[in-house]
Amino acid sequence: MSVPRHGAQSCDVLMTTLSRMCGIIGYVGTKSAEDIVLEGLRRMEYRGYDSAGIALVAVDGLVTAKKAGKLANLEKALADQPLPPATTGLGHTRWATHGPPVDRNAHPHVSADRKAAVVHNGIIENFGALRSELERAGLELSSDTDTEVVAHLLAAAHAAQTGPDAGRLAAAMRAVCLRLEGSFSLVTVHADHPGQVVGARRNQPLVGGIGDGEYFLGSDVSAFIAHTRDALELGQDQVVTLDVEHGVTVTDFAGTPVQPKRFYVDWDAAAAEKGGYAWFMLKEIDEQPAAIADTLRGRLSETGQIVLDEVRLSDEDLRDIDKVFIVACGTANHAAMVAKYAIEHWTRLPCEVELASEFRYRDPVLDRSTLVIAISQSGETMDTLMALRHAKDQRARVLAICNTNGSTIPRESDAVLYTRAGPEVAVASTKAFLAQLAACYLVALYLAQARGTKYADEIAAIVAQLNMLPDAVADTLGRMDQVRAIGRELAKEPTILFVGRHVGYPIALEGALKLKELAYIHAEGFAAGELKHGYISLIEEGTPVVTVIPARGRNSVHSKVISNIQEMRARGAKTIVIAADGDDEVAPYADHLIYVPTTPTLLAPVLTAIPMQVLACEIADIRGLDVDQPRNLAKSVTVE
Ligand code: M6R
Repeated sequence: MSVPRHGAQSCDVLMTTLSRMCGIIGYVGTKSAEDIVLEGLRRMEYRGYDSAGIALVAVDGLVTAKKAGKLANLEKALADQPLPPATTGLGHTRWATHGPPVDRNAHPHVSADRKAAVVHNGIIENFGALRSELERAGLELSSDTDTEVVAHLLAAAHAAQTGPDAGRLAAAMRAVCLRLEGSFSLVTVHADHPGQVVGARRNQPLVGGIGDGEYFLGSDVSAFIAHTRDALELGQDQVVTLDVEHGVTVTDFAGTPVQPKRFYVDWDAAAAEKGGYAWFMLKEIDEQPAAIADTLRGRLSETGQIVLDEVRLSDEDLRDIDKVFIVACGTANHAAMVAKYAIEHWTRLPCEVELASEFRYRDPVLDRSTLVIAISQSGETMDTLMALRHAKDQRARVLAICNTNGSTIPRESDAVLYTRAGPEVAVASTKAFLAQLAACYLVALYLAQARGTKYADEIAAIVAQLNMLPDAVADTLGRMDQVRAIGRELAKEPTILFVGRHVGYPIALEGALKLKELAYIHAEGFAAGELKHGYISLIEEGTPVVTVIPARGRNSVHSKVISNIQEMRARGAKTIVIAADGDDEVAPYADHLIYVPTTPTLLAPVLTAIPMQVLACEIADIRGLDVDQPRNLAKSVTVE
């Protein structure tokens, strides 16, 4: 199928396609490919920042530049040694999988005849066998990567073609893809095709962009959002050709034409820019009232029913459910842990939370009456996707909570509730987490409604409480000077502990995760009740412990946690306590007392998470670290 060159129209609304590992971009048009590729890489650097590279098809053939380290290194190299002008090119920002992050392993990788350049996101599992085959044929490979084999195979396939496919880059790409095992999104340019960029995808993200006489490929729409909001969703096992003369053509790996789905990106370049903030994370923390409000907006129908975005499950299906599993990774897993309390309390369904990376390996008991909820900001996290597929194989129903419209996890689910947090660029998840919490409450209420475990007026009362959260979040954000001051005080500590109970326990885990990933400080989160079972040994004179106090609605737990704080203090802990307004019982035992607005117990994590985010951000900043791009990490993880 061919997509016309001009006249792109709005289709399905796609909110954000940010995140994942390695960023790739391809461009063909009339402007400077170098400028466009570098700008796209700048926007996608959060996806990986071990190295960066670029290839252009210039008048005299293919030219490349690549450098280990952040994009700035490549930009400096290009300033020192400019590349010739070109209007076709590609680029890559890497999160290393095969081979250390050094220049020779940076993408693009180039074929021996120096005609084809390839960038790749994913893992080619049979690259060892392919590499041996190439070496037996006398090729000397110059990198440790799995990607380089693709460049050589592609050049060979291109050269070997006969018949109608002779000289067709897309046909060569299809032939190579059929030989690859694993997951990949690939983009290539070739010296013999100065007006073409070809891409392919299997189990890794790749989207197209349609501009005015120019075309883009990107790991996500941020790659080209500054130039066009008209985008193309590319399916599994598809090859796409961008041709400056003939527009966009998509086929499957067998060469059969495919009609890609077009969509309009409903956020603009400004939404993915820092907008005057020192860090994306600070901006995204401040965007949280809107993220919650937008996630809740319109979710209650005129008849008072909670509505999801895409539901391929009937109320009858939901009434048949007798067990819920929630699978997710990292911060999304902490949202899942909070959701468990709400689901069990409001629906009386048993609910288990499982790290997505562990789920399928323990052979969980699943059947048609199991609902598996997959939570993912990116919608592409491989562990979560694999857990979802395992659940589907066992005939379980799957519901996705996701921030990325059109991404793989919601596409493969039976029902979807999109969070509407907008693009989240900082590696540390903040606004997506709060939006996930709001979405989890909605899903819990949806189940309660479908199963009749709550009356409509009870659901409406909880929805009214949810609707008060955006203001409460804004109020909490207005109190964060105190937390920043505490951050300055704790910035040099070697260890900080986080303690919680009930829904405060996942928030303690989240506080510890944030501090670890951003500030590289040893941090542990644990359940207050576990202190006496081992953790209290960690406490020495001056050890900072951040404790989330449960709301007083849970009196027995509230008083127990206050006792725990006293016990820790008696052993020298410096106590930093997060409590609801008016809770003064803990005051005598708190070295620092951080108040958040009072809200119902189950909803409190939306507020108590905020001081955790601000604390970690402040400490990382004071320690001179890159808050948005912590070492060794990428925004999300598309390899297992
Ligand atoms: O895109 P996902 O929500 O599936 O990502 C899951 C985790 O990788 C992610 O939440 C990670 O833990 C964050 N960097 C934490 O801030």
